[in-house]
Formats: sequence, C-alpha cells, structure tokens
Amino acid sequence: MRILSVVGARPQFVKLAPIAHALAAAGHEHVIVHTGQHYDVKMSDVFFEDLDIPAPDVHLGVGSGSHGVQTGAMLSAMDAVLEEHRPDWVLVYGDTNSTIAGALSAVKLHIPLAHLEAGLRSFNRSMPEEHNRVLTDHAADLCLAPTQVAMGHLAAEGLAERAALVGDVMTDVCLTVAARAADPAREGGLPDGVGDDYVLATIHRAENTDDPDRLRAIVGGLASLPYPVVLTAHPRLTARAEQFGIDLAAGSLRTVEPLDYPSMVAAVQGARAVVTDSGGLQKEAFLLRTPCTTVRTETEWTETIDLGWNVLALDLDRVPELVDRPAPAPTDAAPYGDGHAAEATVRTLAERLPAPATA
Ligand code: UD1
Repeated sequence: MRILSVVGARPQFVKLAPIAHALAAAGHEHVIVHTGQHYDVKMSDVFFEDLDIPAPDVHLGVGSGSHGVQTGAMLSAMDAVLEEHRPDWVLVYGDTNSTIAGALSAVKLHIPLAHLEAGLRSFNRSMPEEHNRVLTDHAADLCLAPTQVAMGHLAAEGLAERAALVGDVMTDVCLTVAARAADPAREGGLPDGVGDDYVLATIHRAENTDDPDRLRAIVGGLASLPYPVVLTAHPRLTARAEQFGIDLAAGSLRTVEPLDYPSMVAAVQGARAVVTDSGGLQKEAFLLRTPCTTVRTETEWTETIDLGWNVLALDLDRVPELVDRPAPAPTDAAPYGDGHAAEATVRTLAERLPAPATA
C-alpha cells in the first residue's frame, strides 16, 4: 500500500510522526508532501529532527498568504505530485489550509482520501479551521476519528458509514515523548531563573492576536499573574504585539521563541498551569495532567472540559482567577485512546482500501 501524507503546519508534523513510524513498521510505502505553510526552522524542521520523521519527499514551498492565496497555491502545485505518485490513499491531517488543499486535490483526481482527526467540531462557523475540517470530512472516503464524540458528529452529518474510530495519534506521540524526558521539568527551552513554579502560555489564533483590545487584555492578564509566565510566541503573536505596541516582556511575562516538541512536553509537565488558544495543547495538558485555561469561546476537545481539566475563559478579565482555580479531581479517564492510534490508523487504511476502479 502506498500512502501519501500532506502536511504543512506545526501540529501536523507532530501527528505525522507516529503515522510515519507505524507505516514503516508495517512495511508500507510512504510519500511525505510538505506544503511549506510553516517554514521557519522552529515551526517546521525541528519537528522532523526531534521526532525522527523522514525528510519530506516533496516540498511545495508555498509559504504564508491570505487563506485563498495560500490554499490556492498549494492546490495548483498538488496535481502534478499526485499524478506522479498515484498513491492508494492521500492522507490529510487536522484542519489547516494544507488539509483542505490536499483533500481537494485528491478528490478532483479520484484518489481515495482519508482524513485523520475527522469529526471534530467547534460549531463556530467563523473559524477557518471549522471550514477546513467540515469540508474535508465531507470530501473524504474515510474519516478517521479520534474520539466517540467525533464519531457522533460524523454520524449526525450522515458520514457514519465512512467513519472509523482509531483514537488520537497525538496521544501516541505525547506519551512516548513524555516517557523519554529525563528531567520533565527541565528538558530545555525555559528561560533562566523561571524556577519550578511557572505558568506556560501560548496565544496564536487570529481571533486573539488580530484584535488589539483583545490581545491587550489577554497579555495584560498574563502579565499580572503572581508567577513567571513562560509565553512561547508564534511569529504572528510577535508581529501583532509589535504592531499594536503591546509589551511581551511586561510584568510576569517571560517570552520565548516557539519550543521544539520535547521541550514543549517537558514544559507542560513542569508547569503549574497552561493558558492557551491552541487545540493540541489543551489536550496535551490533559494527557500530562496539567490544568488548562483556554482563551476561546468554545473547544473541539470537550472531554477536557467535562473531566474538569480545562475551562474556557469566556470573560478575559477572569483569566488570572481561572488560572488560580483549585486543582481538578484526579482521573484515569482516557478519552483520547491508549497511545496506539497510529497502528489502528494504518490497519484501517489497509482494511478499507477501495478496490481499484475498472475502466
Ligand atoms: C495554522 C492553522 C492553525 C494551527 C496553526 C498552528 C490554518 C487556517 N490555521 O495557523 O489551525 O493551529 O497553524 O501553528 O491553516 N508565520 C511565520 N513563519 C512560519 C509560519 C507562519 O512567520 O513558519 C507567520 C506568517 O506571518 C503567517 C502567520 O504566521 O502569515 C500565520 O501563519 P499561517 O500558516 O497562515 O497560519 P497559523 O496561524 O500558523
């Protein structure tokens, strides 16, 4: 079986790692296409190195742009790549512009399409990621769902027959990397003098970074916390803060560049709390049992909320108070699987391989 993976953004490299290893272990051919959506070394190359992912076979070098420009550039470059490799499956990951571009190219060329991390919904129709995931699910021949909740969403949209529950590949990689960390609190990446009692924060979504009042309120709340706040800054956060004259070194803030994955896992493990607007980090915080406060109005990972390990900061003024909330009740619930989702994914791809079309 030949699988062609399309990836381009930071969280997709993390999900690619266990899939690449599981495909290799099962003796399948794997072609990796990097769209170039993320291109800074700290946003891309370090993930391939640290997570032992083979170098991409194809790099489209698309770079940044508006949604239409970026997605269109990927789409126009993909046809020739798919024609050349003619995979049994195109596998797309998550909900970025690279996901929808890979999905559209595959369906237009009648190549079977599988969507990993299918069925997630925020029900927020203004999020670019919501457009990408809904459209990709409906284009896909196989929807590989991480959770029962995701399976329910797929069924509600008439996609039950194309859906399969495989678990969450981020659990695979997060637990493996966490088990490897020699000194969880100090894998590296934290600034000197932060100590052992700190908050880890990331803010990168356009809805938070691109509105100066909102960004000022979020940064102000973090800066006012009574512990050091390690803020790992996505390039967009750095750019917008500079543009709006917002000081990312104010008060308790200790701003650092984006962390590599092992450092991020170690930093989450060592933190007293996480504050984020990332999807993946909410879940990693739960897997590593660090309480999380999510600076969004909704989340796709509702299990983290139901189990008490995550809360939504609907009112930005309450961020400091939410970060300081009492510790959640311990739980051994495993809504994101047992760390073997990549093997289940590869098995399902082999079982559901469509019969070749007859001319
Ligand atoms: C994308 C995904 C988002 C995911 C995030 C992870 C979409 C619609 N969104 O958002 O779901 O959570 O990746 O990080 O695909 N930039 C750099 N260097 C880079 C990459 C980006 O400087 O290597 C800057 C550019 O100014 C760019 C901006 O960051 O315009 C945003 O990057 P983009 O790829 O458009 O989306 P993300 O916000 O990263």
